[in-house]
Amino acid sequence: MREPSRSRGPLPCRLDRAILALLACPALCLAMLGCTRANAEDNPYPAANHTPDLVKGWDQQDPGAPPDEAQAREGTNPPTAYTLHGTPRTPRTKYCFPAETRNVFSQVDMVVGKDGKLAPFNWANIAGQIDDGDPKCFGCGRNGIRGQNTWILWGEGNEAFWDWLQRDGYGLTDFMILLDSRQRDHRFATAGLINQPGMKKQTNPDNRILGLYLDVADGDKIVLQQPPTDIDPKTGQLEQGPPPDPHHPPKPLFTPGNPKLYESVLAALPKDGLDYTVYGYPSGVMGLRLMPNPDFFGDTAAAKTARNYWQRQVVSNGDAYYEDMKLASDPNLVRPFRVAMSCGFCHIAYHPQNPPADPEHPEYANMSSTIGNQFWRASKAFANLTQENNALFQFLNSQQPGTIDTSLVSTDQINNSNTITNIWEVPARLARASLNPPEQPELRRV
Ligand code: HEC
Repeated sequence: MREPSRSRGPLPCRLDRAILALLACPALCLAMLGCTRANAEDNPYPAANHTPDLVKGWDQQDPGAPPDEAQAREGTNPPTAYTLHGTPRTPRTKYCFPAETRNVFSQVDMVVGKDGKLAPFNWANIAGQIDDGDPKCFGCGRNGIRGQNTWILWGEGNEAFWDWLQRDGYGLTDFMILLDSRQRDHRFATAGLINQPGMKKQTNPDNRILGLYLDVADGDKIVLQQPPTDIDPKTGQLEQGPPPDPHHPPKPLFTPGNPKLYESVLAALPKDGLDYTVYGYPSGVMGLRLMPNPDFFGDTAAAKTARNYWQRQVVSNGDAYYEDMKLASDPNLVRPFRVAMSCGFCHIAYHPQNPPADPEHPEYANMSSTIGNQFWRASKAFANLTQENNALFQFLNSQQPGTIDTSLVSTDQINNSNTITNIWEVPARLARASLNPPEQPELRRV
């Protein structure tokens, strides 16, 4: 067994933790594959390909971790949830996050049909209907569509983590700057990011939203479309999306401190037709969604201070925010938006059988959400405020485009970045791995 390291490098302690947390994120992927394994004896894959065994208590919350901001804090009446920085919000449960059921990404992940041509994946059963399918069959019918939508869109609340990183990361990363719309035509070339179709760049300083250059809708093209075949067999009509859930009365996520400002910002944000309380608003980059920040818009003295500070530092300060990294590195600067990152941020790239003519301006038909983004760059996506004279930049930049170390440098001390894997034939590959001969202690000593 390898011992987890507690040693500290030359980096300041908070930053050190930020790096570990950053690297821990893709570990989620591996946890998905490894979490059924309870102990080494039961392990059918004891050869080198087996993921580390789980540590007792893995499913308990770390006592040092911040409370979940979706859950009501104990002893509050009415039940109230809080952000890490103490802004009250409406508690939410699983009923508040219904998965989008409409087939809005039918053009993504096309497959070759019998005629040898690419065609949208057919989710229908033999009877030609898209039903809810066998609940045990994850990829069937409507459940398959829910899964694809979740994979491409949902950040599962990780905007709280990413905001902590951009706020307390000592000038590590800033997603608002990463999303600078004036760079839209270069995002793929510089960072391997995939632009959201139906949107376009916005370079006019007069049209900034709270001082930010954000991508805008390219007319109606931004609105996600269902194919005419996306029929709900119960009604015979187009699938309508998840109905409002009675467990989840439509309450605002938080009380705004300046309702007029909040409403005007919501009205100005681009809209692609999804449930923005679940998925946030489109940022212009696939896999990143914009969530209005309660610490900025909320009804607290701290939020009011944050708004005034932002006005002074960013809105009334020309383009300084985008040019002087000191402004973005300031831990007192609270951004109006947090980004939620979906699995698609790293896993969506271009369909090898239908790549776009111009990789900076793709259509959905050019995308595969399962191939893994071979162009994605960790140093740009996760450390965009740093420069070449920064050790962390050099560390992340040493990882080839399309790779990141999911094995956690923190526990094995190896900078071992791996390709963002394509999600194909997973069961077949696991079955194949089980045929590998077990690793023997005698052999290990050789
Ligand atoms: C920061 C980029 C990143 C994000 C975000 C990300 N992944 Fe991954 N994913 C990777 C990398 C890198 C690998 C390859 C890991 C390796 O082989 O060491 C991977 C591999 C996987 C694999 C294994 C695929 C195979 O067939 O071997 C699965 C499954 C997976 N990811 C699921 C997810 C899920 C689910 C999410 C969202 C909760 C997600 N990923 C988000 C980077 C990412």
